[in-house]
Amino acid sequence: MKKETIAIASDHAGRELKNILKEELAALGYGVMDLGTNDHESVDYPDFANALAAVLKENKASRGVLVCGTGIGISIAANRHPEIRAAPCHDALSARLARQHVDANVLAFGGRLIGVETAKDCLRVFLTTAFEGGRHARRVQKLA
Ligand code: RB5
Repeated sequence: MKKETIAIASDHAGRELKNILKEELAALGYGVMDLGTNDHESVDYPDFANALAAVLKENKASRGVLVCGTGIGISIAANRHPEIRAAPCHDALSARLARQHVDANVLAFGGRLIGVETAKDCLRVFLTTAFEGGRHARRVQKLA
């Protein structure tokens, strides 16, 4: 049985890692919604962050993964949407805390910065770690 559906998107600088993580998600049994980009042309990361935010808002996917060159621009763009909590992560600890403390629903990567195995590690941790709630729930509510 398929697990939840994860939306994934990137700009040109994140495309290669995005495609690797897309395969990893499928191998782990998740449904995957690939929102592009899927060619070499230079594109603008806010367009892909906005597309992913729309899909989450419409409940077509439960969580998302975004990749640009640094992970910074695309997460800033995603976080302009009130329903998105995007966390740029660099290692398993940041991915774990993004879930436990912030209930992040989008994991962001810098495709030019992070190694493939570290990104896969972050992805697995992000997908399997629960939000701790409690005092963190109050803080997350204040973000809205
Ligand atoms: C694109 O060249 C690059 O600026 C973008 O992918 C990202 O790194 C922005 O934060």
